[in-house]
Amino acid sequence: MTNFDATSLRDRLCGTVGTDLIGTRITVCGWVARRREHGEHLAFVDVRDRSGIVQAVVDGSVDVRPEYVVRITGTVRERPEGTRNERLATGEVELGECEVELLAGAEPPPFPLDDRVETDEAVRLRYRYLDLRRESMQENLRLRATVNRALRAAMDDQGFCEVETPLLWAPTPEGAREFVVPSRLHPGEYYVLPQSPQIAKQLLMVGGFDRYYQIARCLRDEDLRADRQFEFTQLDLEASFVTQEDIMRFVSRAVLDAAEAATGERPSEIVTMTWRQALDLYGTDKPDLRFGMVLQDLSAEFAGTAVKAFSAPVVKAIRVPEGAALTRARLDVLTEQAKALGAKGLAWFRLSAEGPDGPLARFLSEAESRAIASVDGAREGDLVLAVADEHTLACRTLGALRLALGAPPVSAGPHRYLWVTEFPMFEGRDDDGNLMAAHHPFTMPHPDDIDQLETDPLTVRSQAYDLVLNGWELGSGSVRIHRADIQERVFRALGIDAATAETRFGFLLGAFRYGAPPHAGFAFGIDRLTAIFAGVENIREVIAFPKTQSGTDQMTGAPKAITGRQLRELHLAPVPKAR
Ligand code: AMO
Repeated sequence: MTNFDATSLRDRLCGTVGTDLIGTRITVCGWVARRREHGEHLAFVDVRDRSGIVQAVVDGSVDVRPEYVVRITGTVRERPEGTRNERLATGEVELGECEVELLAGAEPPPFPLDDRVETDEAVRLRYRYLDLRRESMQENLRLRATVNRALRAAMDDQGFCEVETPLLWAPTPEGAREFVVPSRLHPGEYYVLPQSPQIAKQLLMVGGFDRYYQIARCLRDEDLRADRQFEFTQLDLEASFVTQEDIMRFVSRAVLDAAEAATGERPSEIVTMTWRQALDLYGTDKPDLRFGMVLQDLSAEFAGTAVKAFSAPVVKAIRVPEGAALTRARLDVLTEQAKALGAKGLAWFRLSAEGPDGPLARFLSEAESRAIASVDGAREGDLVLAVADEHTLACRTLGALRLALGAPPVSAGPHRYLWVTEFPMFEGRDDDGNLMAAHHPFTMPHPDDIDQLETDPLTVRSQAYDLVLNGWELGSGSVRIHRADIQERVFRALGIDAATAETRFGFLLGAFRYGAPPHAGFAFGIDRLTAIFAGVENIREVIAFPKTQSGTDQMTGAPKAITGRQLRELHLAPVPKAR
C-alpha cells in the first residue's frame, strides 16, 4: 500500500508508528512535546506531529527542548515491560538507537501546549499558531474539513454545481450592517462585502444553473457572540423548478451525511414543526428538543380569573422539575429576567403536598390551583412558572426561562435536528410604520395567505424555513418570489417604493424580466454545525484565525490604521475620533 505520509524528509507520521514496524529503521519529523531525563546518559523525547506523538530514546547530551523542531531516525522496538502506555496509540513502541537532527530551535512557548491546562483565550489568540498545535484545535479543524468534504460530496452527488461568487460586490438584503471597501479607481464609490451570496445565487438561477452550491465566506458587521463572527462560512445553495420540500430534502441529505462523517452515526430523519407550533410549545423559533419543560396553555383555565395578575389574553406555564428547591434570590433573578423581556411579571408556585405555594397561591380558585398543580405532570418538589400576557410575549418569556433553567451544555447529546416551517412573512413594523421582512424581501408568501398581503399582513405566513439543531439556528432558506406582480406587492408592504427598489435591487429585478424560473434555496452555518459536532460553546474554537469578542485580531493587530498615502489613494480622509 502506498504510504502517502512519507516525504523526502520522513517515512512515517509519529502517531502511526506501531508494533508492525518493530525492527524497522524509520525517520520521523516533528516538534518536541516533552523531554524527561533517564539516568545520566539517556533522555526520553516525545516527538509530536499532526498525527500524534511517538517516544524516542536519545542520548542525554542531545540538546533538544520543548517545541524544537527535530528529525529523528531510529529503530522501532517494543517498550520494556511496565513502561507501556495504553492511552497512547504508539504506547507499545519507542524509537531506539536514535540519530537526532535539529531542524529549528524554539523559544519556550508562552503557555503550555497541553489540552489539560486552561489558558486565557486572549493569549491563545495572540499566539494562535502555537495554540493550533494543541490536540483539540487540530481535531476541531480536521473535523471541520471532514464536514466540508461530506457536504461537498453530498451536493455533488445530488447534481449541484459549485460556483464561486464575488466578494467585492453590492449591498445584499440580509439586514445586517455591511463591511465596505473603498474603490481606488472610482473616487467616493464603494464595494460592499457580501452578507451572503443571496443575490448572486438568484442570478445564477436566471442564468440557467438550476442547482448551485458554494462553501461561501460571508461577512457581516454585527455584534459578535458565541455563535457569531464577522466572517463565517455557509453551505449556500439554490435550485430551480423545486418546492420547499425539495430544498429540505437536499439540505437534510447534506447535513445528515456531514453528521455521519463527523460523529460516526447517522441521525434519524429530521422532524418538522411549524413556526407557530414551535412558539406555542417552546416559546422560540429555534427549540432545543433535548429536554422537555414544554409550555402549557392555561388560558382556558384562567379565562374568568379573579386574580388581576392572570387576567390577560394568554396564560402560559412551564414545570421546572425539582425546582421547588430554587432559592428566593434565584426566583427574583428569574422574575427580573422575565420583566427585562417585556413581561409584566412572573408567577411562581412551589408544589408541596398541600398544593401550590407562592405569593399568588392563596388568591387562586380551587380549579386554578389544580391547573397549576398539574402542569406537565407536575409533582411535589417541582416549581411551576406562569406568565400571563399577550400570546407572543408570554411564549417568548417562558421560552427564555425554560432555556435558562433547563438547557444542557453544547457538549451534551443527543443531536436533535428540527425543521421549522411557515415563518411569518413580516416581523412587526419599524419606526416609520413600515413592515419589516422576517427573512428577506424576496421571500414568497404562503399561497394560502397571499390575499391578506394588503389587508392583514402580519398574519401572512411565508414559504421560509429554518433548520435548528439543539437550540441553535443552523440555517435559513425560502422559496423566492419570481413573479414581478407579487414582488411589487411585497415591496409595497415593506415600504420600498419603485425607485428605491430599482436603486437597491434593480439588476436583480431587471434579470427577472428575462425569464426567471421558480426557485428556492437555503444556507446554513458551517461554523455552527462544526461547533456542535465538536461540542464547543463558541464557534471561535472551530475557526483557525477568529476575531475576539470585540472584533479584533489579536495576532495581526487588525483592524489597524493605514498610511496617509493609502488613505489618499482611496480618496479617504479620516474623521477625528469622537471624544
Ligand atoms: P441567514 O442570514 O439566516 O440566511 O444565514 C444563514 C445561516 O448563516 C449562519 N450565520 C452566521 N454564522 C456565524 N456568524 C454570523 N455572523 C452569522 N450570520 C449568519 C447561521 C445562519 O442560520 N441568504 C440567506 C439564506 C437563504 O435564504 O438562502 C441567509 O444568509 O447559521
